[in-house]
Amino acid sequence: MDDAKGLRKGLTSYGDAGFSLFLRKVFIKAKGYSDDALDRPIVGIADTASDFNPCHGNTPQLIEAASRGIMLAGGLPMVFPTISLGESFSHPTSMYLRNLMAMETEEMIRAQPMDAVILIGGCDKTAPAQLMAAASADIPAIVLFTGPMLAGHHKGERLGACTDCRRLWARHRAGEIDEGEIGTVSERLAPTNGTCMVMGTASTMACVTEALGMTLPGSGTIPAVHADRLRNAEATGRRAVEMAKARGPRPRQIMTEAAFRNALTVLQTIGGSTNAIVHLAAIAGRLGLTVDLEEFDAIGRRAPVLVDLKPTGDHYLEHFHIAGGMPRLMREIEDLLDVSATTVSGETLAEVIAGAEIVPGQTVIRTRENPLRAEGGMAVLRGNLAPAGAVIKHAAASPALLTHEGRAVVFESVEDMTRRIDDEALDVTAQDVLVLRNAGPKGAPGMPEAGYLPIPKKLARAGVKDMARISDARMSGTAFGTIVLHVAPESAVGGPLALVRTGDRIRLDVPARRLELLVDEAELARRRAAWTAPPRPAGAARGYARLFHDTVLQADEGCDFDFLR
Ligand code: FES
Repeated sequence: MDDAKGLRKGLTSYGDAGFSLFLRKVFIKAKGYSDDALDRPIVGIADTASDFNPCHGNTPQLIEAASRGIMLAGGLPMVFPTISLGESFSHPTSMYLRNLMAMETEEMIRAQPMDAVILIGGCDKTAPAQLMAAASADIPAIVLFTGPMLAGHHKGERLGACTDCRRLWARHRAGEIDEGEIGTVSERLAPTNGTCMVMGTASTMACVTEALGMTLPGSGTIPAVHADRLRNAEATGRRAVEMAKARGPRPRQIMTEAAFRNALTVLQTIGGSTNAIVHLAAIAGRLGLTVDLEEFDAIGRRAPVLVDLKPTGDHYLEHFHIAGGMPRLMREIEDLLDVSATTVSGETLAEVIAGAEIVPGQTVIRTRENPLRAEGGMAVLRGNLAPAGAVIKHAAASPALLTHEGRAVVFESVEDMTRRIDDEALDVTAQDVLVLRNAGPKGAPGMPEAGYLPIPKKLARAGVKDMARISDARMSGTAFGTIVLHVAPESAVGGPLALVRTGDRIRLDVPARRLELLVDEAELARRRAAWTAPPRPAGAARGYARLFHDTVLQADEGCDFDFLR
């Protein structure tokens, strides 16, 4: 670690350190800074505002409030831009760009002189990228979340992005909602600044980051438009200065094995997004730790879903927040956590829990005696179809399909699925198992959120709401259904998913945690011998696309690049 402080850190190489510092001061003084200001501890603020990222729409106000906190505590705020990833504005997927943001953020933290850093995270892949960067750069860091939107309303019904985006779009596909109404709905699903207000990936990562200890306690769930969100930004600024002066705690001191276990436990109890398991594996990998899928599954068997939020339950993030948020939830599962773990606030989880607000009569955070579901939100499946594991959010699945055997209907790629899924001539019934392959980290590339295969239109029209679906893709945390994801190894590297043929039988047994292709081993060996790896995708001959294709790891390893761990 660089022992220098403030402006003296990481001098540009001119062969004369004194001259390097002199030159740095010459240029920064062009912005009107005094020597007094420049001698203060410097807190960098990663500015992730972007017109292409509405989930970060309040970033300018957060920067102003965090800067105020920094200056009140005697530090100097220095705002610097980084890549920002808005989920629906990232082609081909935000997952494809997450590692780029992680690399850029890490290198900018290292390259520029700062004693601590505030990372303004929010939309799905931003906080994971920032946590990966913070783990590798390892200077004192706090994630400041933009916060969730308020819930929307339509025809007397509460709406949430994007669980209800999917539900209402499915109704539109089935012919129940016309063109005019779906247009109106598009103006009501995301009514304020902020991140999706259901327990999607953004909210999941905010809660999990609180459990990891990398954001101020109680801050993950504050709505984006509440005054408390700005007070939280100010407090983050103040605390960052204390951490800058004390030179710690550093991310490696916060994100310990115990902290990851706590994060996995919270992930199960909030009924969180399946994406979080990939992100946690990537962040852990930066620290030389591994997220053990078997342990995650075992945690799920004893940690019930307690938070009654969409898509698993009924409410929205603002309701979780006013019910006491994460400190209150962690109080309910205190015996399942290692409460000696510390947070960026300097407090242990035990102290955070002791300060939890008890809200009389609230029903959003259930008690252990009255859980939303007796088990956690996710299960890890193994079997001859997923030797390195697959994940299902069984909390958001149809109970009747959790044990199911059916005929495979295979789609070769996302494009093939898009082309054929609504074909009236497609040979498919509600009992079949829809299989999508070549949609994993390498195959698509970027592991798109295509695992939520739409119900074929002709079946949707007949009232079919859910089917068993299997892929090496991901799914939005806001989605629901009996959907097996992250099958590893993926088909593009020769995983067994590549060997499935339409007509094969597949057995899904979630209670037993099994996923089996009912084809005998001799036949599978024949198919394996005949299989050839798909060529590197068009467009991946150079640049970032090539780097991604050649070095991305599998889902169970977090989809980080192999050289970044
Ligand atoms: Fe940004 Fe949902 S699209 S959080």
